[in-house]
Amino acid sequence: MKVLKTLVTCLLLTSLVSCAKQSESKEKVIEGRVENLLSKMTLEEKIGQMNQISSLGNIEEMSVLIKKGEVGSILNEIDPVRVNALQRVAMDESRLGIPLLIARDVIHGFKTIFPIPLGQAASFDPKVAEEGARVAAIEASSVGIRWTFAPMIDIARDPRWGRIAEGCGEDTYLTSVMGAAMVKGFQGDSLNDPTSIAACPKHFVGYGAAEAGRDYNSTFIPERRLRNVYLPPFEAAAKAGAATYMTSFNDNDGVPSSGNEFILKQILRKEWGFDGFVVSDWASIKEMVTHGFAVDDKEAAMKAANAGVDMEMVSYTYMNHLKALIKDGEVKEKVVDDAVRNILRIKFRLGLFDNPYVDEKRASVMYAGAHLAAAKRAAVESAILLKNSKNVLPLNEAVKTVAVVGPMADAPYEQMGTWVFDGDKTHTQTPLKAIKEMYGDRVQILYEPGLAFSRDKNLADVSKAAAIAARADVILAFVGEESILSGEAHCLADLNLQGAQSELIAALAKTGKPLVTIVMAGRPLTIGKEADLSTALLYSFHPGTMGGPALADLIFGKENPSGKTPVTFPKMVGQIPMYYSHNNSGRPATRSETLLNNIPVEAGQTSLGCTSFYMDAGFDPLYPFGFGLSYTTFEYSNVKLSSTELKKENVLTVTFDLKNTGKYQGTEVAQLYVQDKAGSVTRPVKELKRFTRVELKPGEKQTVSFELPVSELAFWNIEMKKVVEPGDFGLWVATNSQSGKELSFKVVE
Ligand code: BGC
Repeated sequence: MKVLKTLVTCLLLTSLVSCAKQSESKEKVIEGRVENLLSKMTLEEKIGQMNQISSLGNIEEMSVLIKKGEVGSILNEIDPVRVNALQRVAMDESRLGIPLLIARDVIHGFKTIFPIPLGQAASFDPKVAEEGARVAAIEASSVGIRWTFAPMIDIARDPRWGRIAEGCGEDTYLTSVMGAAMVKGFQGDSLNDPTSIAACPKHFVGYGAAEAGRDYNSTFIPERRLRNVYLPPFEAAAKAGAATYMTSFNDNDGVPSSGNEFILKQILRKEWGFDGFVVSDWASIKEMVTHGFAVDDKEAAMKAANAGVDMEMVSYTYMNHLKALIKDGEVKEKVVDDAVRNILRIKFRLGLFDNPYVDEKRASVMYAGAHLAAAKRAAVESAILLKNSKNVLPLNEAVKTVAVVGPMADAPYEQMGTWVFDGDKTHTQTPLKAIKEMYGDRVQILYEPGLAFSRDKNLADVSKAAAIAARADVILAFVGEESILSGEAHCLADLNLQGAQSELIAALAKTGKPLVTIVMAGRPLTIGKEADLSTALLYSFHPGTMGGPALADLIFGKENPSGKTPVTFPKMVGQIPMYYSHNNSGRPATRSETLLNNIPVEAGQTSLGCTSFYMDAGFDPLYPFGFGLSYTTFEYSNVKLSSTELKKENVLTVTFDLKNTGKYQGTEVAQLYVQDKAGSVTRPVKELKRFTRVELKPGEKQTVSFELPVSELAFWNIEMKKVVEPGDFGLWVATNSQSGKELSFKVVE
């Protein structure tokens, strides 16, 4: 047995070594081809590679530019015949035959739309993220797209910001894990595979911290916070092999990212060893003039090129000014050479020089059965059960009539969410359709939306909805946000349900019938009032093409909710920004503070105590990070640490028993949090360090373990060095960020 094991290990090692050697030699060949090609290029051709245009529509017009070598990449071409025609011009009619890189925002699916990334994050399942990206890559590459502007891994702690929908929420670790999984899914095993598309982690960096949650706004993130909170997901993406990066629109402490040498050269290239290329965001180089960071386009081009932006998206400042800048000595030719090397390297790795064409005759892979199944699974895992009084869910056999109401019950476009240029609403399966088709023989369905769309303020039909509700055993109210209410530039100052949806919920509640409210939205909404009025509350961030069947199976109990909040749900907007991993103040809330209604008239100045809380909202959110219920219940016990005193090079093993103590089979997302009690700088009260999904049958118990290398407790300290500082740590194994019994351990020198 031992001999066999050794043999297998040997073979494995030999093949690993030979694999490494093979890829090393492939890379050598690519570097040789890059240098050879670069040596033949004119300055104009080099600058042309650094230029990305958005499709001009007219092929002839684009061909003129391509022939002259003035285009490195085209954004927004999605027809394989056109893609091939354009590639043919590049390959056969331009002087050096350099293929184009065809790009598109394929964010959470191309045709088959998966839940928005915030929803995928709620699954706490990297498989969901990887599979979603893989399906997107297979569909997108089949029309010739070989580059997507995803994953979006901006940490977002302000749900007013519409783009919170596009990322994985507030947490650095969760975003790192999900983002890396998306990179793997898009890029597959090798970039060279025709179904692989280059990933582009964005927006580098800090964009999610836009002041007051208003898009494009300035950020003020000090270096330590940048390194501890905002950069790690981008580093994880680099480790996962991300081929490209996109700079962000925001200026951080006065420096727009597209002119920020520190993040692009020092961090991305030097510290992380990134060798792909960096693209600007849409016109973000030119916009440095509007920012007031450059006097004109020429200076903007100079600053961006020197900072390390290799390719410019659509704004032509490189095309118009780089040549002169080089002549004037303001940009060295080496800067351009390096940028072009980075771009060509990725084009070679994608195999574009060997075959830039796409098979026009290939059978369609769009909406393939396996893709729809994966999208449904993702939507099932993404839904979060926030409340379930009287175990109203899943609906039991006694329920004979359901009233389906609300503007999101049958809104095929809206449930796809933001950034779905290519998703076709005729393929979307809505909850109404799914309930009819899948459960129509089990229950009688009464349907009356009550409101036509989420912002509808017309109360005329609300009484009709209440009337059918009064005739039903259970009300299923589908409310939320239309797709346009989240995403880029779609910020909100008020996060209550829009239109007359609140009035609708109130009218339904008045019937006294069990009210199941299902929210489909692009962000956490302040839904405390509606939660109180509802018997159950199921939250599904825009769930995509297969949202309907997923929700139907959850409601009728074929599936059991397992999603957890990837972002804190505030009670009211005034609490924002609100996130679980905040630092402690010197006067943390005790949660026994006197709130507004109980403060006596003429209360003395210090009579309320002096702690960090809101008199009207208290201290806690509506739902904390990591929160989500199940139809069953889970019990954590027996949490044990491998040691309570560890050295920096050790690995801490945390084991615990998890038991399904309820009636249904279910999956629990077990979470491991750590607190560094005291450091050379203040540390967050809790940080997520590990999570895992555990599926258990009723009564089943499993021993689960987490391995946490002590090195992962490192942070950027007072000397701006990433170190593990010895000292005391708290540790929780828990069902959400606010629960669990605290254990402790020590890190020693
Ligand atoms: C967005 C990017 C997107 C780009 C291209 C910009 O407005 O900020 O996220 O990838 O447009 O469509």
